[in-house]
Amino acid sequence: MELGFYLYTMDQLTQQIAECKAEMAAFDAQQPDAAEVFRIKYLGTKGIIKNLMAEMKQVAPDQRKAMGLLMNDLKVHAEQQLELLKEQVVSPSVSTADFIDRTLPGTAVTVGTRHPLSLVRNEIVSIFRRLGFAVAEGPEIEDDWHNFGAMNLPEDHPARDMQDTFYIQQQPAWLLRTHTSSVQARVMESQKPPIRVICPGRVYRNETISARAHCFFHQVEGLYIDEQVSFADLKQTLYFFVQEMFGSRVKVRFRPSYFPFTEPSAEMDISCLICEGKGCNICKHSGWVEILGSGMVHPKVLENFSIDTNRYTGFAFGMGVERITQLKFQINDLRLYSQNDIRFLQQFTGVI
Ligand code: PHE
Repeated sequence: MELGFYLYTMDQLTQQIAECKAEMAAFDAQQPDAAEVFRIKYLGTKGIIKNLMAEMKQVAPDQRKAMGLLMNDLKVHAEQQLELLKEQVVSPSVSTADFIDRTLPGTAVTVGTRHPLSLVRNEIVSIFRRLGFAVAEGPEIEDDWHNFGAMNLPEDHPARDMQDTFYIQQQPAWLLRTHTSSVQARVMESQKPPIRVICPGRVYRNETISARAHCFFHQVEGLYIDEQVSFADLKQTLYFFVQEMFGSRVKVRFRPSYFPFTEPSAEMDISCLICEGKGCNICKHSGWVEILGSGMVHPKVLENFSIDTNRYTGFAFGMGVERITQLKFQINDLRLYSQNDIRFLQQFTGVI
């Protein structure tokens, strides 16, 4: 047995350990950073337990083993307490439901933008409105008569072929309109001349979807029937439209064409806006791009609606909104219009 003077007796240290445990039990778990405060106080390098361990030197050697066990027990006890405190921090007793962190940044409210096709359609409509055209709309599911028959499309016309037209399976007499000329038919059916309407709307054709073709697209067609309406009126009206839509620098040209519902018929080209007529991919190096079909309403069409062909003449035209939009914004893939990619759609705020 070592001889000497020892400061602590076993009883004294046991007493201290008990006090320490009692203090831990009373530890204020609600204080800020409770777990960390506890750790530093009891288990830190300068903490109470480390200090008590150091005091072991002051205990008589034959008592140190028993003391060591007690001290170890205290340490394990403190570590358990610390774990409990940490859990309390993860699931605090205060309900988070009523807790509002006013320092968090707010959620930005983003306002949607108009689809480029809607913007361009609205622009087309507003230009023709200024010329006195009214807007007419009709059904997308049509019958053969309004879509084809009344528009002088003979039975064997290729546009009637199953390849181009979507027919309703359960109701073969019905189809998805292939052009908004069907709306013109409905207007002529229900109104007497003078007629001055534009027909914006979605149309459908059985095409394989690619960058250049889609199974649905949008048209604005126009119809003007009155006394003494001539081809000169048609040209001037469309010329006005192009200047308003694309600016005064753009040139136009008419090419003879064929449509069953107009005679004579013409397609209208405008000088390529991308290369200013020098030749590029968009205009296939011709300097011109086709934007619409037009012509004088075929007398047969007028007769179909009992319009007196001795008194009235008229012109009609039809354009694809996608094409006009493509030229205005240089959009090179038709599929972009219907993919709803927000990065594409966001670019058209405030452009028209
Ligand atoms: N309906 C024709 C089409 O869809 C366009 C057109 C309308 C052509 C009116 C001439 C006159 O292609």
